[in-house]
Amino acid sequence: MCIRFLLCSRVVNCLDRHVHTCPERVALIWERDEPGSEVKITYRQLLEMTCRLGNMLRRRGVRKGDCVTIYMPPCPLAVASMLACARIGAAHNVVFAGFSAEALAERIRDAQSSTVITVNQGVRGGKVTELKKAVDTALQSCPTVQQVFVAMRTENPVAMTARDIVMEEVRDHYVIQEMQKEDLVCEPAAMDSEDVLFLLYTSGSTGKPKGLVHTQAGYLLYAALTHKYVFNYSDGDVFGCVADIGWITGHSYSVYGPLANGGTTVLFESTPIYPDPGRYWEMVQRLKINQFYGAPTALRLLLKYGDQWVHKYDRSTLKTLGSVGEPINTEAWEWYHRVVGDGRCPVVDTWWQTETGGICITPRPSEPDAEIVPGMAMRPFFGIEPVLMDTEGKVLTSNDTSGALCIAQPWPGMARTIHNDHQRFTETYCQPYPGYFFTGDGAYRSKEGYYQITGRLDDVINVSGHRIGTAEIEDVVNQYSAVAESAIIGYPHNIKGQGYHIMSFSQFVHRLPKTRSGKIMRRVLRKVVEQDLNGLGDLSTLDDPAAVEEIIQGHRELC
Ligand code: PRX
Repeated sequence: MCIRFLLCSRVVNCLDRHVHTCPERVALIWERDEPGSEVKITYRQLLEMTCRLGNMLRRRGVRKGDCVTIYMPPCPLAVASMLACARIGAAHNVVFAGFSAEALAERIRDAQSSTVITVNQGVRGGKVTELKKAVDTALQSCPTVQQVFVAMRTENPVAMTARDIVMEEVRDHYVIQEMQKEDLVCEPAAMDSEDVLFLLYTSGSTGKPKGLVHTQAGYLLYAALTHKYVFNYSDGDVFGCVADIGWITGHSYSVYGPLANGGTTVLFESTPIYPDPGRYWEMVQRLKINQFYGAPTALRLLLKYGDQWVHKYDRSTLKTLGSVGEPINTEAWEWYHRVVGDGRCPVVDTWWQTETGGICITPRPSEPDAEIVPGMAMRPFFGIEPVLMDTEGKVLTSNDTSGALCIAQPWPGMARTIHNDHQRFTETYCQPYPGYFFTGDGAYRSKEGYYQITGRLDDVINVSGHRIGTAEIEDVVNQYSAVAESAIIGYPHNIKGQGYHIMSFSQFVHRLPKTRSGKIMRRVLRKVVEQDLNGLGDLSTLDDPAAVEEIIQGHRELC
């Protein structure tokens, strides 16, 4: 049975009802790149910004059902732009501001956006990036785009389209000037519970990114519930999720979850080591953060700099520490718990995906006697029914076993489709194990029934009949003090089926090739080891292309 409701746009749940009860509560703390220069925005101010932006978009012809691309770093205007789209019933498509012009163009074209909102320049880790210029380059191959709204993050001017043409044909507009013309009241659109709230592109195993579609009611409900129960969030807490808004983590736990719960949420513009490796903890002290949510890759980096960067700052406000994005190795987990949390804050290793909309497997420390085993994602969240499958597609019913991680029942936050490609959606997620949602990850279920994610299934290696998760070997290698990080990849082996190659051990390298969100691109490493340099595939999401060159060179020398 399917129950559908007609609702006011989601934004009313995130803003209007809090403005009625606590208008002067801080909704957003914009932790700008320069430490100590944070900007606080109340719920009343955020509603005003959102209404002005909503009216601006409506006046410029954006309609319910359209898709607006937002290419901005974390900042209040970016959040207000997301909420303004939601208010008028348009979908938003936030593209990570670290992506290249080419990656941006591909996403704009696929989403068929006619409107882009951006900033003149980005500032991160003390470096300036030319975001408006990237938009200009991208738009050379995006004929659908009619208008660009530009916010000013720095004082440096950028080229706007010529002013001497007729007003209607001007493409680029200064967002602040446009907002000033608008009314503070913007009627929210009436929406069906299954209408689209946003698209968010994520990479798949093939080159073309997938525009996952999330909907109005289920997504927000799920983001809000998980935010509250996983992090033990209570009224008045300051929630510090350091993910960029360009990722699902930023959508669900910097924006929608905390705002739906009337919380104060931090928008982090900087990096973990700018201006020094104490940045996170100095911020925790200054902003009095109660829940900190970050990625293992940053923790691994920080622990190598030493405990003194943590001890320098007061972290007594912290209640819960969260980890997301990849398996957290034991060393990083222990350090997070013992050093950052002084052994008194539960660590929640939260497993989920862009596809799932919110956290699916996680410890829930708010429950009495909740056990947490280091490095394990532990138990399903309410309504999630994880299932492990064997290689023949049979459900594994026993414990102390590993298999392909599927989910048996739909849940409110799940993506409904891939934009313009429902067939790819069903092929990727529904057909591998008919009747189940296939996550693409492998997992181990312990004797006690607790789950541990072993990594993407395409990262699992099979050596002489033993299935080994890349994370398990990396865990051991990383404990060696000379190694900051490692990446394990399988390669074809005549006798064993697969052997494995340890980048940074078998082959020492200065850095590993990573996506801009910090994920190691094992697919690329595998091709280097297989000496299939023509098959490196799409490298557009690579953070530093020089890392690949270095590894190719190093591998040649090894061979
Ligand atoms: O492989 C899993 C890994 O990240 C993938 C999802 O990536 P993305 O859609 O970019 O979303 C990241 C933020 C939710 C998953 O398929 N992953 C995510 N969280 C964990 C994880 N692997 C192990 N442990 C986790 N806690």
